[in-house]
Amino acid sequence: MKPTVPKKAYRPRASRAAASGVLKTAGQTTKRSGATRWANTWVQSPNWFFGFWIVVALCLVIYTLNALFGQVHPGSAWGLSYGIAATILFVAVFLYALRRRLMKVRALGRSWVYLQVHVYGGALFLLLVFMHTGFQWPQGVLTWWLWALSIWVVGSGLLGIVLQKWLPTLLSSGLTTEVHYDRIPDLVSEIRRRAEALVEDADYAIRTFYRDDLAPSLTGPETHLAYYLGASDVNGRSRQFDALGAMLPAEERAKLSELREMVQTKQEIDAHYTLQKALRGWLLLHVPVSVVLIVLLGFHIFSVWYW
Ligand code: HEM
Repeated sequence: MKPTVPKKAYRPRASRAAASGVLKTAGQTTKRSGATRWANTWVQSPNWFFGFWIVVALCLVIYTLNALFGQVHPGSAWGLSYGIAATILFVAVFLYALRRRLMKVRALGRSWVYLQVHVYGGALFLLLVFMHTGFQWPQGVLTWWLWALSIWVVGSGLLGIVLQKWLPTLLSSGLTTEVHYDRIPDLVSEIRRRAEALVEDADYAIRTFYRDDLAPSLTGPETHLAYYLGASDVNGRSRQFDALGAMLPAEERAKLSELREMVQTKQEIDAHYTLQKALRGWLLLHVPVSVVLIVLLGFHIFSVWYW
């Protein structure tokens, strides 16, 4: 039982995706009987997955023919075709952002399809950028930035997929509670308020332990890298509680054990805070840079077209 925080603060596990405010993401897969564990974890749709690899193989065959029989240069007919194909894919990849803003318009089709185009199309976009530059370092400053930011955006997209697969598993396997991210500061304040009320008339040893060791960590939510490894008692408080408990009379031990539950709840909340913050925060690595990439791509096309 978790007496420290009102029950409505926690949600049953089934509603976790909804609770975290995340709709169906690229990280969620539906289990297919007969598929390997790897495929069930990483592949949302086998058709898209195999289709992607067929297109990659086709691109590489075309590039090999180009290298054998034509000129490998961004300005050659082949090179320009790769650049144009990359731009078309870039626009298609961006349609996902528009679709998310027009979720209610059913006529636009399933947003899941847009997400597949986003993920696989984004990866193909990078391959076509490499083909466009002949798998060489770019020469000019603008083209260098275009090239580097393309790698960054696709790399951060891949990181997002890994986080969307991995963090929800950590959240559901190691933690006993469900916590809504936006409510975390309130929940921590509530724990602090209850802890302070509890220790007010407790034994001197408990009050000192609370003031010196526990109170600082109850001032607000905290992030710890150890939560990524599934750790639960990151501050090593368990041993302190055990040692103090052994010295106290039964009545005070009951108070100490209530305080311990509060501290454990706070640590679970911190684990949620750390992992959910990463789930939301990685988009900051991905989206702003993708917007800069559109602007640079616009300049690049303009300069190639008019100069
Ligand atoms: C041309 C390259 C790409 C661009 C310009 C781009 C841009 C964006 C933008 C603007 C969003 C925010 C959409 C929104 O919520 O409004 C987004 C989300 C996302 N992108 Fe990309 N992206 C690219 C490639 C990729 C790649 C290659 C992957 C994965 C391999 C990827 C994975 C994701 C994921 C997982 C999300 C969040 C989806 C969700 O859960 O709603 N992106 N991207």
